[in-house]
Amino acid sequence: MTLETTRHLKHDTPDRDRRLDGMAQGVIGTDMDRPEGALKVSGQATYAAEAHPESMAHGYLVRAATIGRITGSNADAVRAMPGVLHVLEDERMIRNAAQGMAGESPVQKQGRSWYVGQPVACVVAESFEQARHAAQAMMVTIEPDGTHVFDAEAEGAEIETPEKKQVSQGDLDGAMASAAFSVDHDYRTPSMSSAAMEPHASIAQWEDGAVTLRGSYQLLRFNKNELADVLGVSPDKVRILSPYVGGGFGSKLGLAPEAVAAALAAKVLERPVQVVMHRRQVFETVTRRSETKQRIRLACDADGKLTGIGHENLVSQLPEETFSEPVAQGTHFQYAAPNRVVGHHIARIRRPAAGSVRAPGEAVGVTAFEIAVDELAKKAGIDPLEFRLRNVPTEDPETGKPFSSSTMEATLREGARRFGWTHTAPRQRREGEWWIGTGMAGAVRVNMMIEARARVVLTGAGVRVETDMTDIGTGSYAILTQVAAEMLGHAPAQVQTILGDTDLPPASGSGGSFGAASTSTAVYLACMELRERLAAKIGVKEGELTLKDGYAIHANRQTPLSEIMGEEEWRALGHLKPGRAGQDVRQATWGAIFAEVAVNDTTGETRVRRMDGTYACGRVLNLKTARSQCHGGMIWGIGLALTEALEHDPRDGHMVNRDLAEYHVPVNLDVPQLGVHFLEERDDWANPLQAKGIGELAICGSGAAVVNAIENACGVRVRTLPATLDQVM
Ligand code: MOS
Repeated sequence: MTLETTRHLKHDTPDRDRRLDGMAQGVIGTDMDRPEGALKVSGQATYAAEAHPESMAHGYLVRAATIGRITGSNADAVRAMPGVLHVLEDERMIRNAAQGMAGESPVQKQGRSWYVGQPVACVVAESFEQARHAAQAMMVTIEPDGTHVFDAEAEGAEIETPEKKQVSQGDLDGAMASAAFSVDHDYRTPSMSSAAMEPHASIAQWEDGAVTLRGSYQLLRFNKNELADVLGVSPDKVRILSPYVGGGFGSKLGLAPEAVAAALAAKVLERPVQVVMHRRQVFETVTRRSETKQRIRLACDADGKLTGIGHENLVSQLPEETFSEPVAQGTHFQYAAPNRVVGHHIARIRRPAAGSVRAPGEAVGVTAFEIAVDELAKKAGIDPLEFRLRNVPTEDPETGKPFSSSTMEATLREGARRFGWTHTAPRQRREGEWWIGTGMAGAVRVNMMIEARARVVLTGAGVRVETDMTDIGTGSYAILTQVAAEMLGHAPAQVQTILGDTDLPPASGSGGSFGAASTSTAVYLACMELRERLAAKIGVKEGELTLKDGYAIHANRQTPLSEIMGEEEWRALGHLKPGRAGQDVRQATWGAIFAEVAVNDTTGETRVRRMDGTYACGRVLNLKTARSQCHGGMIWGIGLALTEALEHDPRDGHMVNRDLAEYHVPVNLDVPQLGVHFLEERDDWANPLQAKGIGELAICGSGAAVVNAIENACGVRVRTLPATLDQVM
């Protein structure tokens, strides 16, 4: 029997059942290894560029060297080069990740190069080497179309101020004027790259008017629609396979040019085409995080109680692109203060497109804000930990909505206890030529859920989970396996989880830290459906049924599931739809980061010596993968504080340091042993699992802890990140 029933949840109200606390299998929240881990480390997991179909041709992207109108090319000469099969000059390739979940058509107008590095052609040849050689010989003529601005702060930059993104409550100017203590500074964070380890790659193949694309993407159900839209075919003619993804960090939220190029070329040539981007192409053609200029004003009374908060931001973006870095996303609710201003301004300039990069908004917004808070605490003569504790909000200070959970104070106190927080005036501790200092910061990140579906198939022998969810290195395979194992009483080894195929039920995909909670809920719902069917078959209530190790346990009897199920196969679909629960309350995740640094008195070099993060992010589904998400975020925080910056040429906006040799992400030697602690939390508003987002929380604020520790060590306050040696010396 293959009857498939569906269980829907429109998530409008808190679910106080907390069922996962009482389950018998005991695999939720453990540090279970990734089920696919062995495949990955033994090279058997096939990533996007590794599954080569027969007679595959190779495409190589050509990028614009200047900005302007495209008026011609030497494509005919290139076509005559050895091995060349096709020269694609189709501008649909310039569609890029900035669209992402919107699924819109390209916004940049045709016939132009909008930024240096924009893909303008793709040369396809028999071999990769022939394609690369011919692509390097390709010349696209671009005529200047006026003068452009390349710096958001430069004279003449067109500044947009979207009305909906401005907030003004009370009287901030008045609060500043009458404050016992105040700060008013500009903070700057640089343009940044997602720099995922696996470069973008796609292999496209057509059959009977339908295309199959093996790619490396985060949000398959959206990506499928995007590809259908750009190709002008119906979505049911598109299948995307992304079983393994070597990191995304936002760069794979939306289709990148290599996917469109591969699909278009494969259609023309009637054979499979692969397009792999090399590292520099990835840097330029997928979206970057915008640089920011943040004016932060803070006012407090003599007791260190905040009376005014101002956070006015300038970010950059290409003309007409819809995304802009939501810098103040955390500021709306992180601290209480009656007088509030949030400003959001977008400079339309010609740097490569900006888009979502890990924790868009809070990653840089909370970081700068937490530096400003440190500055005000110092001015008020209050320990920075104590200062924050005095300003914990009891409700969303902007909207008055209640928090679904508020763990800010708990994370601050527990984090301080674990770290052994002690803090003195600057320049008090010296070891040889090193100044030693400590710093701390709070972390906050919005919690989101999106629609998700998953199918769970139960047989007498085990369980199969099927969804188009992706695992971008985060641990989706592990946690979905754990949820199904727990709910249906099987060892994880009896659960097979199949992901990354748009022919399977559409999940949330991975982005915005909503993946684990959203898709796990869909799996949970499907499992509830199956539990009820099992209970009905045995003749008990679902709540009286215990499932463990392949047995149904009820009224002192143990029946093997294989006996109950016989040869049957039961299928259930879980379908989560976000509802009022995400609107009626303020849902967020919280953390506190503590760091100790050594700053060299001669060179200005900063070494992070100790770093500790304490996070409250709902129910932890897998301790190991959750911890490793936090490690990644904290390490990115070290990069934000000390090394990471995309440099743009002031003459044409192009990225100068567009590879991993020149764009400095922290390496092992830059990172000390990191402490990660979770405060287990049960937020009933989140979902029936009480699981919340983890992936992006740890990057928020951790850079501030390092920058604040630098000030404590050597007395230098850095407001332009990263804290390069010349600034610190
Ligand atoms: Mo994330 S920046 O939404 O992949």
